[in-house]
Amino acid sequence: MSTIPSRFQQMPDPPADPIFGLKALFNQDERPHKLDLTAGVYKDEAGRTPAMDSVAAAQQHLVAAEQTKDYLPIAGDASYCESVGDLVLPGGPAGSWFHTPSGTAALALATRLVASAGATRVWLPAPTWPNHAPIVASAGLEVATYPYGTRPEGRVEAITEALAQVRREDIVLFHLCCHNPTGSDLSAAEWEQVAGFVSDRGLTVLLDAAYIGFADRPEVDRLPVAVLADAAPELYVSTSFSKNFGLYRERVGALHIGISDAAERRRAFATASSITRTIWSNPPWLGAAIVDLILRDDERRSAWTAELDAIRGRLNSTRGAIGAAFAERGLDAVAGIDDGRGMFHVADLTPEQVKVLREDHAVYMLSSGRFNVAALLPDGVAQLADAVAAL
Ligand SMILES: Cc1ncc(COP(=O)(O)O)c(C=O)c1O
Repeated sequence: MSTIPSRFQQMPDPPADPIFGLKALFNQDERPHKLDLTAGVYKDEAGRTPAMDSVAAAQQHLVAAEQTKDYLPIAGDASYCESVGDLVLPGGPAGSWFHTPSGTAALALATRLVASAGATRVWLPAPTWPNHAPIVASAGLEVATYPYGTRPEGRVEAITEALAQVRREDIVLFHLCCHNPTGSDLSAAEWEQVAGFVSDRGLTVLLDAAYIGFADRPEVDRLPVAVLADAAPELYVSTSFSKNFGLYRERVGALHIGISDAAERRRAFATASSITRTIWSNPPWLGAAIVDLILRDDERRSAWTAELDAIRGRLNSTRGAIGAAFAERGLDAVAGIDDGRGMFHVADLTPEQVKVLREDHAVYMLSSGRFNVAALLPDGVAQLADAVAAL
């Protein structure tokens, strides 16, 4: 092996990922009572993340019937894209969904796509998912932020005041539902207000729809997509089936390119194809085929819907249990948890307190105080509340 130093010799180590870096620390922790509330992964009553039954059955069927390992087209499986459109934006323009290997990839594609057409800046809510800013930056775009806060009071006023500075060529990102990390979403009336603002100013919107079906039924969660599709001259929607189909490791997602002029939409699509051709080239098949089969088959779809309803039910009842456990101990660090939706809540804790929770109590959460509600079983709820009470 050569002893000449490599090009990385002078380079500082990059920072650990704020979520998966902590998960790695958790994996090294040998304390038996350790509690992992870091990454957004759903756990059932037994603390496991099994494949959903409807997903496992669809997979078995597809694998048994599989005839080829030929490539999918660059823009992906057309049948899958049509099913995604029917789920997220029924009645939307045909041929407007691009198959991506995950929601992360859909966001990466959206940002590179708008950058290729002259965008220079993306507005993100503060706080937001820790991966948004790195995705925007890696597309060569500048990050700007608008206040979102952890509580709904005064939120829309603060958002619209900040977004008054948006330039016509900027992009504004919103979370569709189950806002990560706060769990606090815009109401239907607030979406109408935001849409009015978007329409008046002709803003381009990127909607991150990673949790459809986790706040409410998909038919309800998707409603703001149509509202924004009417309001925004250019709408991008990134979606993911990591959470609502539990297909995390299969990497299944899609990007909606909502441009009303058909020729411009085709040009944007062709540009998206050129971009992805140099990265993943063609998307993987199995996860997308599972989603497509389930969404098209009434029986499979009802089975999946029932499983999704049960997940949502457990998320909401766990929120109630956490709120009650904190109240019993006279703690107000999780105020508003009952009103939130989805996997996350931000506890009112300092980064130092979060560090003490990790070091002294083996409770792992993000330094922002974000913790994964879905990872808590009854014992864990008590452990978390006791640990916070001991701070
Ligand atoms: C807000 C948000 N967007 C996008 C994603 C991307 O998910 P995936 O890349 O697994 O599809 C996540 C995952 O945690 C998320 O929380």
